[in-house]
Amino acid sequence: MAEIRRIDPSWKIKKDLFKDLPHITSVLSWPRKYYQKRITKIGFVGKDTCLLDAACGSGIWSIAASYHNKEIRAIDATKKYLSVAKEINLKYQRKNLQLKLGKLENLPYPDEYFNYVICYNAWMYTYRQKSLQEMYRVLKPGGKIYLGSIAGLGYYLMLLFQGVKEGNRVLVLTALRAIRDRVYMTEKESRYLLGKQGFKILSLDSDALVGDSKIKVKPVFSAKFLGFWNIYEVLAEKI
Ligand SMILES: C[S@@+](CC[C@H](N)C(=O)[O-])C[C@H]1O[C@@H](n2cnc3c(N)ncnc32)[C@H](O)[C@@H]1O
Repeated sequence: MAEIRRIDPSWKIKKDLFKDLPHITSVLSWPRKYYQKRITKIGFVGKDTCLLDAACGSGIWSIAASYHNKEIRAIDATKKYLSVAKEINLKYQRKNLQLKLGKLENLPYPDEYFNYVICYNAWMYTYRQKSLQEMYRVLKPGGKIYLGSIAGLGYYLMLLFQGVKEGNRVLVLTALRAIRDRVYMTEKESRYLLGKQGFKILSLDSDALVGDSKIKVKPVFSAKFLGFWNIYEVLAEKI
């Protein structure tokens, strides 16, 4: 459950424009430079590189990546989120960024087109095997994928405990439904699907830890709750 915070001024967005979209307000509370630092940390940079932001949402990763790559394509299945990304890009006018409506399970891009794919806080909401297959298809051999903010069982257990503690029925029900519907992904499932698809896992760790250890970035989420992954992330290579 996203915490409502203040939108950072670096996004040039009117304060209350998206107040009905708490997830967006939450991700926009971090400055643009924060996402740029994270992109540098995972090494998704280059003069001639193409990057796909898969399930881009408000486009924060796309905008940040557009300062470090030649070409950015971004796709999302929800019109409302995509319109936020368009609104933000109206301010930034990043000419190397193309935003598109569409699904991860059927990506409208040619085979082996991208050097990098970012899929942040989204893989677990898709048909996991099919979307991974598509992200693999559009990556060049040796290309890399960053699957960020994967929610483990710990995340929903934490919400459940918080809901019980606060007497918040909505939070309790949300957590119970997510656990029942298996919205979370175990480390075992991620490793299995990535291996089966032909990816080599370079690193699997808690939020904001994969990539160059010399570049320090503040994690958004804590690592574990009651011994289960809360949020984790994976950096992998197409072999
Ligand atoms: C929690 S948001 C994350 C957005 C963005 N990556 C970020 O970090 O802010 C999840 C996004 O996944 C998108 N999404 C969910 N299922 C999808 C699918 N099958 N294909 C494309 N986008 C999808 C939603 O529309 C939403 O924008």
